[in-house]
Amino acid sequence: MPAIQIGSLADVPDGGVRRFDLGGVALAVFNIGGVLYALADTCSHANASLSAGEVDTDEVCVACPLHGSSFDLRSGRPRTLPAFAPVATYKVWAEGDALFVEYPTLIN
Ligand code: FES
Repeated sequence: MPAIQIGSLADVPDGGVRRFDLGGVALAVFNIGGVLYALADTCSHANASLSAGEVDTDEVCVACPLHGSSFDLRSGRPRTLPAFAPVATYKVWAEGDALFVEYPTLIN
């Protein structure tokens, strides 16, 4: 499967989040208990960076730092208003310490 290495697993330690800028596509990568999630970093409601939001590890979601919509990290769907459109999700995984995302989904 085509993939692109975006960094290392050490960039996103357990409980952490990091923004990666990939040729005009900004991703927010989250690590919750060793499970990785990648979302489009820009909120679907307005121009806010989800990687700057507060992560709820129990609910596996992130709250947008601007107006507070909560996005499910697994689906990209908002759970609360004012956002109503999902953000894109990307397959992300580690091989050893290398961090990869699925490449075709970055071409939209
Ligand atoms: S910018 Fe994210 S909820 Fe408004």
